Amino acid sequence: MKLVRVAILAAGLAGFAGAAQAQDAAEGENTFKKCQTCHRIGEGAKNLIGPVLTGVIGRKAGTAEGFAYSVINKNSGDTGLVWTEELVVKYLEDPNAFLEAFLTEKGKADLAVGKTKMVFKLADETERKNVAAYLKTFSK
Ligand code: HEC
Repeated sequence: MKLVRVAILAAGLAGFAGAAQAQDAAEGENTFKKCQTCHRIGEGAKNLIGPVLTGVIGRKAGTAEGFAYSVINKNSGDTGLVWTEELVVKYLEDPNAFLEAFLTEKGKADLAVGKTKMVFKLADETERKNVAAYLKTFSK
């Protein structure tokens, strides 16, 4: 009996988490308007000032086909940076500082050459979380 109640509670919580996630993504679509100056996402999206973000969650950094990345972005991917929602949330606060810190933590501070071309920063953490949830909806 007790087990059944735990299972029901767990299922309820999972449902709640899913709904919250969908809500975040919906808000994130709005935040994404700030990214659209430079990025496109979705079917048939093309590189613009920034790389296509379709499928970016789960993708190795610096690998959108046909995009000429900065050295530091490319080197981060080659050093093992694969975008997750959590990492994008951190990255957007200060992309250049994030990539430098990533390479330094990997003991590859010497690969933190130059600056990223992604000069945009998003200070608001809720907006960062929402937009990351939105990006996720374009990844398998
Ligand atoms: C002013 C233009 C501009 C804006 C606005 C901008 N970006 Fe970028 N973004 C870039 C450029 C350029 C790059 C490539 C960076 C490099 O090569 O160093 C990039 C790179 C990225 C990357 C890494 C991609 C990869 O393949 O490694 C992510 C993730 C990203 N942007 C997300 C966002 C999100 C989300 C927003 C909105 C909240 C945003 N960007 C707003 C220009 C922009």
